[in-house]
Amino acid sequence: MKKLVLATNNRHKIEEIKTLLQDLSLEILTLHDIPNVPPLVENALTFRENAINKARIVHQHAKLPVLSDDSGIEVFYLNMRPGVRSARYAGERATDVQNYEKLLAETRGVAPRRRKARFRSVVAFVGDGYEDLAEGVCEGTLAEAPRGGNGFGYDPIFIPDGYSQTFGELDENIKNRISHRARSLANIKEILKRRLG
Ligand code: IMP
Repeated sequence: MKKLVLATNNRHKIEEIKTLLQDLSLEILTLHDIPNVPPLVENALTFRENAINKARIVHQHAKLPVLSDDSGIEVFYLNMRPGVRSARYAGERATDVQNYEKLLAETRGVAPRRRKARFRSVVAFVGDGYEDLAEGVCEGTLAEAPRGGNGFGYDPIFIPDGYSQTFGELDENIKNRISHRARSLANIKEILKRRLG
């Protein structure tokens, strides 16, 4: 079975990606399986650069094919903030709750029709002699208060288009059908199959 290393420490992302790639019969490793991985810097200005940087660092170190995801939420009313800073929006060590509470505070009183937001995911796939990128977007609206305990990050305040519940309330199978990550991975799947065949 071919090996693929996921370049992320986020256990929620790992679970989602494993589910979304389960039909490929790969041996999926995480950073816990690779000793002494250098720190994964995420200080670039775009999802693409962050994703490719993370995958390159791990590929150079582990000498195995690597998949990374860089993702976040963009709020139209806030000129697409927090974007690449989603994980650290309320500070370097901020929790998910602190991050989404900051976003809710900044959009308090803003009318529903102006609460448009989207999740974006860029996945980078790096191996010997190749670097591939794919992107996925999930459009929706910001809730006015958090709802539901499923998922992670901004899920309790994000209502995907076509639904009235937040990702925090929706079943994970629904999120895994329509999310930004479901879409970015669907967009890179054929390349993964071809290269790891
Ligand atoms: P990074 O890709 O490690 O920089 O972090 C992505 C951050 O974006 C996460 O810490 C979350 O705050 C947010 N995020 C990304 N994907 C999701 C998602 O599927 N649900 C909720 N929040 C997400």
